[in-house]
Amino acid sequence: MHSDTAPAVRSRTATEGPTPSAPTWDPQQYLRHAGHRTRPFVDLLARIPQLPGPAPRIADLGCGPGNVTVLLADRWADARITGYDLSPEMLQRATQEHAGPTPGGGSLDFRPGDIASWLPEEPYDLIVSNAALQWVPSHPGSFAAWINGLRPGGTFAFQIPGNFQAPSHNLLATLCESPRWRSRLAGHGARYNHLLEPAEYLARLTELGCEVEVWETVYYQMLTGPDPVLDWVKGTALRPVLTALGDDHEAVSAFLLQYRDLLRGAYPPGPRGTVFPFRRIFAIARKEK
Ligand SMILES: C[S@@+](CC[C@H](N)C(=O)[O-])C[C@H]1O[C@@H](n2cnc3c(N)ncnc32)[C@H](O)[C@@H]1O
Repeated sequence: MHSDTAPAVRSRTATEGPTPSAPTWDPQQYLRHAGHRTRPFVDLLARIPQLPGPAPRIADLGCGPGNVTVLLADRWADARITGYDLSPEMLQRATQEHAGPTPGGGSLDFRPGDIASWLPEEPYDLIVSNAALQWVPSHPGSFAAWINGLRPGGTFAFQIPGNFQAPSHNLLATLCESPRWRSRLAGHGARYNHLLEPAEYLARLTELGCEVEVWETVYYQMLTGPDPVLDWVKGTALRPVLTALGDDHEAVSAFLLQYRDLLRGAYPPGPRGTVFPFRRIFAIARKEK
């Protein structure tokens, strides 16, 4: 079982991957809750309309370890699919596990790419992003270029967490700003002020001439094991904090203990597990034919 005092984070050298302010990612920690994390993507996928092309061209922005990218190949068997991500750790895992020809005659590959500057270099049938745009403050500013890069009748679809007012995130933000941690962690617990509300995404995408569907869902996730909410956020919202504290294991342990105690108060375990409500926002924009 994963220990609270040994977070899955490691230092990086200056020549590796993302910019210094980008958090390091740990595919293994992220995949510990793969079931709950995959469900919203399946719900998104179910609403994506038919794509224009035979053998569609698909981009998955912020593909992570590729475990949802591969579901695209299940639905569009002959698609040529590229997953883009900033994290070398995630790309390595995705490539190892999923890259290559697909049984339906398509292909899957994974390339380094920063969502903040990514532009379609050829016409796409589908540009999709699952649980990644929240890391890119400028993402609404890219919508026009991405939709411009779609074939007529193509789709841009994304899902992002909408739980940034939840206790898990509020407590993290408060702890980062507390006197003990402020000098090292100010701002690291509250990085999501740039996210729009569903109605704003609907308005922006409609203004771009698309047929748009936007909705939100709260998933009541039953998590099991000791301190499961802490274990969950170690794979996502805690990444910037763990990255900032780096190899200072003492500080990491002290921070995690404090945060763990706060989470225990906010999410008390029940007889069968700990309920962790999780709001998510979905958008599907279809370019006119
Ligand atoms: C929560 S994971 C989601 C992974 C995958 N899409 C899924 O649904 O399982 C977020 C991913 O976004 C990636 N990411 C964050 N900022 C990025 C950026 N600016 N450009 C590309 N990828 C980014 C991270 O490396 C990470 O793999």
